Amino acid sequence: MSHHRRIVAHASSRVAMNQFEESRRKILATTSAQIYSEFSNPNLEVLISEAEIQQKIEALGKQIAHEYAGKNPLLIGVLKGACFFLSDLLRSIDIPLGIEFMAISSYGSSTRTSGEVRILKDLDVPIEGRHIIVVEDIVDTGLTLSYLLANLKSRGAASVKLVALLDKHERREREVEIDFLGFSIPDHFVVGYGLDFAERYRNLPFIAVLKNPESAQLELPKETS
Ligand code: IMP
Ligand code: MG
Repeated sequence: MSHHRRIVAHASSRVAMNQFEESRRKILATTSAQIYSEFSNPNLEVLISEAEIQQKIEALGKQIAHEYAGKNPLLIGVLKGACFFLSDLLRSIDIPLGIEFMAISSYGSSTRTSGEVRILKDLDVPIEGRHIIVVEDIVDTGLTLSYLLANLKSRGAASVKLVALLDKHERREREVEIDFLGFSIPDHFVVGYGLDFAERYRNLPFIAVLKNPESAQLELPKETS
């Protein structure tokens, strides 16, 4: 048996990660190139574990099922971040319901304080008379949601409520009532379970604090021509 395993490290990741971090990072395979575990990336500090998330969702689902029995609620997920939360939450709400998606993007920083958002993908159905539950990953400044909730109310919904997995209350600029909340968190930039940093980390099964956002960006794979 040969012990001469050839380790081919990616030049880009070698630049980005210092030796110390590299030595702490779980290696999934060393066949032709090292495959590093994203979930044990040393740039992440777990804030809310997978088990804690799932346990909380179970409780939220029961509460929502109890309140909405006989109302056929329509859950509206805000793309992309809330999809992960929505899909787990749905499976713990044991009553008839429907789902819809919306995609929104905020305007540039100049119009940011107005909270005005651009609707990139609107609902496929009218919501007049429906009981709406907006599903969001995180409420930060509250600008996006205060606009969205008002917009949905103006369409004649019977009721509009909000379920959010995370609340960063310290950052609030616009008051937003969260009817069903997972966790209150301190003012840290968090990733995972749908939340991203430059589209990365949505796939983590837990919520983590990104220790060093600059190195996270450097670690992104180089584009090949
Ligand atoms: P806001 O409440 O209008 O400020 O915007 C909330 C949106 O900003 C969320 O839906 C997320 O997409 C994003 N966001 C806010 N805080 C974080 C964070 O800590 N990590 C990742 N995304 C965040
Ligand atoms: Mg979002």
